[in-house]
Amino acid sequence: MGSEEKKWRNPLRSEHDKRLPRIAGPSGMVIFGVTGDLARKKLLPAIYDLANRGLLPAGFALVGYGRREWSKEEFQNYVREAVDAGARTVFNEEVWERLAEGMAFVTGNFDDDDAFDTLAETVQEIDATRGTGGNWAFYLSIPPNFFADVCHQLQRSGLAEAPEESWRRVIIEKPFGHDQESAHRLNEIVNSVFPENAVFRIDHYLGKETVQNILAMRFANQLFDPLWNSHYIDHVQITMAEDIGLGGRAGYYDGIGAARDVIQNHLLQLLALIALEEPSAFDPQELRAEKVKILRATKAVEPFDKTTARGQYTAGWQGSEKVVGLREEKNFDPNSNTETYAALTLEIKNRRWAGVPFYLRTGKRLGRRVTEIALVFKHAPHQPFDASDIRSMGKNAVVIRVQPDEGVLMRFGSKVPGYSMEVRDVNMDFSYSEAFTEESPEAYERLILDALLDESSLFPTNKEVELSWKILDPVLKYWADHGRPDEYKSGTWGPESADAMLERNGHHWRRP
Ligand code: BG6
Repeated sequence: MGSEEKKWRNPLRSEHDKRLPRIAGPSGMVIFGVTGDLARKKLLPAIYDLANRGLLPAGFALVGYGRREWSKEEFQNYVREAVDAGARTVFNEEVWERLAEGMAFVTGNFDDDDAFDTLAETVQEIDATRGTGGNWAFYLSIPPNFFADVCHQLQRSGLAEAPEESWRRVIIEKPFGHDQESAHRLNEIVNSVFPENAVFRIDHYLGKETVQNILAMRFANQLFDPLWNSHYIDHVQITMAEDIGLGGRAGYYDGIGAARDVIQNHLLQLLALIALEEPSAFDPQELRAEKVKILRATKAVEPFDKTTARGQYTAGWQGSEKVVGLREEKNFDPNSNTETYAALTLEIKNRRWAGVPFYLRTGKRLGRRVTEIALVFKHAPHQPFDASDIRSMGKNAVVIRVQPDEGVLMRFGSKVPGYSMEVRDVNMDFSYSEAFTEESPEAYERLILDALLDESSLFPTNKEVELSWKILDPVLKYWADHGRPDEYKSGTWGPESADAMLERNGHHWRRP
């Protein structure tokens, strides 16, 4: 074989080919808060599915840490139940056996020296027997008031420090603070133990396929970007509507509310991806730098009595089911002022977006579950048609459907067939399920794998988190000083004040 031939590598198999799934190297994960809802419903099934897809190393280890007095077998049974209930792949006994073999459970509180010493010993034993190579991710699926204890204990017990040639990372669930100041304090605590490049803050919306497609759509094509600015776009609506109520989650949600729960993180991340400039390279640093610029330029528009709205759901009908109001939900404080619906008007103070309102809204117990981003265009500057010809035509729009029915829709005017000139709105619709046979990975699968691979693009940085709070804080303060949220009936599209908020600008919410 000539030397030229020897050097030849199949380009489809090069190390940098992002089409090939990457497999995590030797590693293990410790989950704090493993008995919580999120671990049971999302994390444990995602870990099993990754193993089943062959994306975890054969010797992967999973250690649970919590207060229960569980044996290894009891922990295995608990994980098995979570996997049976939540996994997306077909159960494979062999994969399960291999994964279960690498499980361990350590009993303790979050500030318990002895228990963390036992955890450190457990991790060492596993490294010696399963070839995890000293590479560990610590998943904090716990309320933020325990972050300090756990970080301190990880440091004290030596667990935070990676042996040579190995890594230690921390994965953190939201809520990350309740305002800018508390988020800053948490960042200081976490960053005093783990350098920022070892911190992976979860925003599971960034793990969604359709959210990642925003960048592909904007920057891989020539079609959209020339129109993506204030010359052509009238306003942007970002909607995250849920039909579920708060049954069972009162403890977490009361005092937090819709804006802190999802606007501070998911919706502001969507806004950043829609609005950012093209990163000079598609790598984590560049992408995050662009997001930071946008968040820094974003402000909530005042006066807040007109530019924001908030509400609480009351009893009503959700489809054919009769449902109770927030204040009657089990364990919810009947006098709570926590909002289950929030809408804001934001502006982005830069050349591309000056003067374009970004309306964000989210709510529980709304008409249906849907997350979408609609870019609504201005009217054409001149129409050669009679006003009556275009009477039934609205504004052009590009709608990115994040979920469900993932896809992208374009709305524009088209001539109605016939002998007269009449223009009416039509939709051109791309749907993932029709265009692709490939299945989208579950957000948590993608994010857990990325964290193990040290691929940080989809994780917000400390700056992003603090800037997002900075945008929200003035509104939260205004709401806290101004009494009760409005009411809206379950199954409707939120309080009337939310409609009024757009009408004052001559706009209307889309009815998805
Ligand atoms: C979570 C919120 O971050 O996102 C929940 O805490 C919300 O309140 C959930 O229900 C919605 O996630 P998804 O992926 O179902 O849209």
